Amino acid sequence: MFLITGATGNVGSQIVDQLLAVGKSVRVFTRDPAKVSHWENRIEVAPGDFANPESLRRASAGVEAIFLMNGGLAIGALSQLLAAIMAEGRPRIVFLSSLLASEPGRFQIGRAHIEEEDAIRTSGLSAHFLRPGGFMSNAYQWAGSIKAQGVVYNAMGTGKSASIAPEDVAAVAAKILTSPDGLDPILELTGAELLTVPDQVEILSHALSKTIQCIDVPVEAAIEGMIGNGMPARFASAVAESLKAIRDGQGEQRTDTVERIIGRSPTTFEVWAGKHRSQFRNSHSSE
Ligand SMILES: NC(=O)c1ccc[n+]([C@@H]2O[C@H](COP(=O)([O-])OP(=O)(O)OC[C@H]3O[C@@H](n4cnc5c(N)ncnc54)[C@H](OP(=O)(O)O)[C@@H]3O)[C@@H](O)[C@H]2O)c1
Repeated sequence: MFLITGATGNVGSQIVDQLLAVGKSVRVFTRDPAKVSHWENRIEVAPGDFANPESLRRASAGVEAIFLMNGGLAIGALSQLLAAIMAEGRPRIVFLSSLLASEPGRFQIGRAHIEEEDAIRTSGLSAHFLRPGGFMSNAYQWAGSIKAQGVVYNAMGTGKSASIAPEDVAAVAAKILTSPDGLDPILELTGAELLTVPDQVEILSHALSKTIQCIDVPVEAAIEGMIGNGMPARFASAVAESLKAIRDGQGEQRTDTVERIIGRSPTTFEVWAGKHRSQFRNSHSSE
């Protein structure tokens, strides 16, 4: 039995699908069981909240390995969650960290993930740490302005990055959950193509058969926009650090880890955009 946290999220939902496809038993941890009802009786549901370690203890009973993501938690809470997991046994952990953790001290988000990785290392549980770069699904942030105005506001200028499909992060996670032998404990994951935001917008435009304009905005405007959309100011400024690094041409890391582990090239943005195009269309639209 595998326990998947974040099972309603970009990565976790794909892990559940991929494990079920190869006949594995899956339990999902969620605050809202209604959000996982589409899997019907093919999964076990463990209702719970990271704010309630006891709920994670119950969810961990009898599992072989856990896909653990942070749900935006502070380090103190993660230590309590690890204690709760260890009250039920010693499952292997596959932790969703970040490529920003590979540049120690540079990024707030990286520092937070390093602290979390360290807490897991200190626990003594056997663990693998996935460090993906930016997700292709970050493009969902553009869905509102694409639907309303046919516009993407871009704070990353013409800086390039090799974003990764959550499906590929999930495929690596599923591989480690089911057959971890010989795999490095830290896996840095990126896509294969270096693209600018204007490149991605052009690809989306083709996928949607719709003209989308890309408008350059300063990073400060992006911070205001994130705060306006409800993101806490501290978190918005942390996200802005990585936008700025990409804008300044410092986001071009690429690794071959996905291909080495799952034996196929990473998903291209064109394929990802084609698969998820409905997210960028008005529901009543015939576009
Ligand atoms: N976006 C990127 O470019 C990027 C790059 C590298 C690393 N990352 C890391 O990836 C993670 C986000 O992954 P994602 O995009 O797959 O997630 P996501 O789509 O943002 O979904 C968030 C998930 O967190 C769960 N969650 C939130 N608060 C929770 C709580 N209190 N208790 C239990 N579950 C909770 C939600 O579950 P329920 O609502 O079902 O409870 C949901 O499944 C973050 O740690 C981020 O740092 C992101």
